[in-house]
Amino acid sequence: MSSQRQETVRRLTAPEITARKGGQPLVCLTAYTAPVAAILDEACDLILVGDSVGMVLHGLPNTVGVTLEMMILHGQAVMRASRKALVVVDLPFGAYEGPKEVAYANAVRVLKETGCQAVKVESGPTVPETIDYLVRRGVPVVGHVGLRPQAVNVDGAFKAKGRSEGERARVVAEAEATADAGAFCIVVEGVAESLAREITKAVAVPTIGIGASAGCDGQILVTDDMLGLFDWTPKFVRRYANLKREIEQAVSGYADDVRARRFPAASETYFAKRVNAPE
Ligand code: KIV
Repeated sequence: MSSQRQETVRRLTAPEITARKGGQPLVCLTAYTAPVAAILDEACDLILVGDSVGMVLHGLPNTVGVTLEMMILHGQAVMRASRKALVVVDLPFGAYEGPKEVAYANAVRVLKETGCQAVKVESGPTVPETIDYLVRRGVPVVGHVGLRPQAVNVDGAFKAKGRSEGERARVVAEAEATADAGAFCIVVEGVAESLAREITKAVAVPTIGIGASAGCDGQILVTDDMLGLFDWTPKFVRRYANLKREIEQAVSGYADDVRARRFPAASETYFAKRVNAPE
């Protein structure tokens, strides 16, 4: 008999997420660390270990420099601390756009080494073929259309998509191809409400919007943005807290206390037990 006690884990599954199309909106947030994942787990249907980790935690200018190893390390932390939400890990730039076999090997590494249930890819024109290849081989995939942050060097900046008729048609076609290839849900980023509604109507799987209006089947935000950890946030972010201000106040209180010798107090100090000296 095994002496190991297995903790019961019942996570939402990819088919359960797909079944929410048009139903109760999907609640999704990003997490990169164990403590944050533990806090989000109760409220979220889906936790994304996004490659935004490069900008949010590692101070990179965009997501292009994020590596597979970084995604695996953060994916492991999030998996250890969550029990209920479906966890998706982003495949970083360069990990899936080339040969399908390489994408499969990278996706399998992520699934095996983190224990997450799915990967996310930014579904440019060539990617649906790879999504089909992965899904047929047992890798659940989340697509990502509209503004694709990994394409920042082609676009020149993070730009909303669908401003021209041609671009709208292209984004809808990419979303349809992504769904047809087997993605079980699709992140839609940085598009106008009318385009988000058009995509949501066009595909049979849930759309998860970020800067894409209430016309999607669910919403996702970068957690650090909605918690107010940065001075600037995009127009589409609602701040539910101002943690930057809270942290600044806490740090300045600590600095004042240390300088004034108010910290540590006696209650925060270990004292040696008095040992009677031998006579
Ligand atoms: O990396 C990320 O956090 C994302 C979200 C913006 C959806 O892809």
